[in-house]
Amino acid sequence: MQESGLIADDLRHIWHPCTQMKDHEQIPLIPISYGKGVWIYDFEGRGYIDGISSWWVNLFGHANEYITNALTKQAQTLEHILLAGFTHKPIIELSSRLCALLDNRLQKCFYADNGSSAVEIALKMSFHKARLRRQKRHRFLSLKNSYHGETLGALSVGNVKLYKDTYGPILLESLSIDVPSLDSNGEKELLSLKTLLEKMGGEICAFILEPLVQCAGNMHMYSASFIKEACTMARSYGIDIIFDEIAVGFGRTGSMFAYEQCGVVPDFLCLSKGISGGYLPLSVVVTSNEIYQEFYAPYEEGKAFLHSHSYTGNPLACACANAVLDIFQKDDVIASNKKKRDKIVKKLEALKEFKNIKNIRYKGMIFAFDLISTQSRAGLIFFQKALKHSLIFRPLGNTIYFMPPYVISEEEIDFVFEGIGKILRDF
Ligand SMILES: Cc1ncc(COP(=O)(O)O)c(C=O)c1O
Repeated sequence: MQESGLIADDLRHIWHPCTQMKDHEQIPLIPISYGKGVWIYDFEGRGYIDGISSWWVNLFGHANEYITNALTKQAQTLEHILLAGFTHKPIIELSSRLCALLDNRLQKCFYADNGSSAVEIALKMSFHKARLRRQKRHRFLSLKNSYHGETLGALSVGNVKLYKDTYGPILLESLSIDVPSLDSNGEKELLSLKTLLEKMGGEICAFILEPLVQCAGNMHMYSASFIKEACTMARSYGIDIIFDEIAVGFGRTGSMFAYEQCGVVPDFLCLSKGISGGYLPLSVVVTSNEIYQEFYAPYEEGKAFLHSHSYTGNPLACACANAVLDIFQKDDVIASNKKKRDKIVKKLEALKEFKNIKNIRYKGMIFAFDLISTQSRAGLIFFQKALKHSLIFRPLGNTIYFMPPYVISEEEIDFVFEGIGKILRDF
């Protein structure tokens, strides 16, 4: 079928996420036929480099042979089994591997099937634990400019106006403090945290944050030392720490998990996105034996944590996740990413010659800059120009970011930056 036919059929019945559908009167939807490595192809055979890892989920390229084989094998054996009262091999293997990767500092995995649900679980567990301890904690604390997902609980602790404002009247009331800028040690923000904790510390269940990079918050990067101090302060009031590593986990910030760079082991670690290499929805909240024990009691005491999703811990997704962990191990991905990152940083720094961009920044395999432009929806214009150079970017406002699958080659990096140069030259 021709692309135009596919587009018309799509628009007849599909309401797309994060989209003003009317935009598609002017901006054509792009039907994708297949992918290979960092490339995805439309139905006319045009290829595009996926510069955003398909919403930050893809780590090892599209149609990755190793993951596909693991998935196929699992599909021939067991596609799904409910996780209440039953278990399966892929999830047992995955859980022990994840805990080993965390040096067994967290030891219990609670699964779901998307990032927002993982956040909901961590919030509910923390609140529930406080209730079991007969504490009067019922609030959550987060950072300004944070994003934790779009279900009501996750939206309540997020702070990006674009997603949150409309739903204000039906959200939980939550507390927030400013996030420091990249070059600050966060002295001012720590002071306001101290003041807030002195007033309300005993009412707060948990402090949730995206360590090192607030991705949906325009790729805002901030220091590990602030995170460490803020978490230590919050903990002194008995507040749980939730690290939302849904976007930054699995090597994105340069270490397997961002918490490793912060000197803080959280009470709840939320993981998703890259966990299955971008193949299938899966998420997990990893927590401690100590927290698990609070819920462990005779049935009649009513202490069980009753949260479930039909596809929780799906075997196909877990098989993909095990394949992802195999690749990390056999290809020494964290080390080889460092070399790629150095090359990308050089290319990025060279963009300083352009006077129409500012705030070049990077962390691990996340690279970003902001457009200086008076045009309305400049980011969207950049997106459209990028398509002409066979590149897929999906800007956040005027922030352009590059978050490629880790399998990107040196030549492909050159290709991306040649394209960016051409776009900026005629912007
Ligand atoms: C930090 C963070 N938390 C939570 C989520 C929500 O995950 P999902 O889109 O799978 O619900 C996202 C999604 O972008 C995210 O970046």
